[in-house]
Amino acid sequence: MYRGKAEYWSIRQVKKAVSIPVIVNGDLDSAEAAKCALKYTKADGVMIGRGANGAPWFPGQVASYLNHGVQPKSPELSIQREIILEHLQEIYSFYGSFQGVRIARKHIKWYTQNFPDSNFFRSKVNKMEQPDAQWRAVDAFYLNLNNSIGQQYLDR
Ligand SMILES: Cc1cc2nc3c(=O)[nH]c(=O)nc-3n(C[C@H](O)[C@H](O)[C@H](O)COP(=O)(O)O)c2cc1C
Repeated sequence: MYRGKAEYWSIRQVKKAVSIPVIVNGDLDSAEAAKCALKYTKADGVMIGRGANGAPWFPGQVASYLNHGVQPKSPELSIQREIILEHLQEIYSFYGSFQGVRIARKHIKWYTQNFPDSNFFRSKVNKMEQPDAQWRAVDAFYLNLNNSIGQQYLDR
């Protein structure tokens, strides 16, 4: 249940002991954390789990930081809106309406949890049972957010 903190010492020992590629994972929630973990463990790559929840652009930001030393900003609000809306469509078409609407709820939470009034929004959207209604509610939520919303809401 994600209690405790990832420890990288063991990964470092494994990397020393084997000749196959080793990937470091756990609590890599910033580009800097990924860089430090790579340096310390000497692993061949990083894997990001929760950091990408609701932020599918995050692995790309980390890659850019590792390769070029610069972390691009998170996408602006209108792009984030397009990404979540397309993601929802993909979920509905992959899982079907019944499962899709339910699976989408956690993604909607992850995408929106940093935004103002997202708790209130979620209490409404989580009761919706139809893809159309859910999709339109998310669309409206993003459109209603102030377009000049600060970068601190867009980054996490
Ligand atoms: C949504 C989600 C689903 C996951 N599913 C699996 C899984 O099916 N099997 C598994 O071994 N680990 C699974 N994990 C664990 C991750 O692979 C990873 O080891 C863990 O989340 C620690 O990395 P993080 O701190 O970057 O999240 C999952 C993690 C998340 C967030």
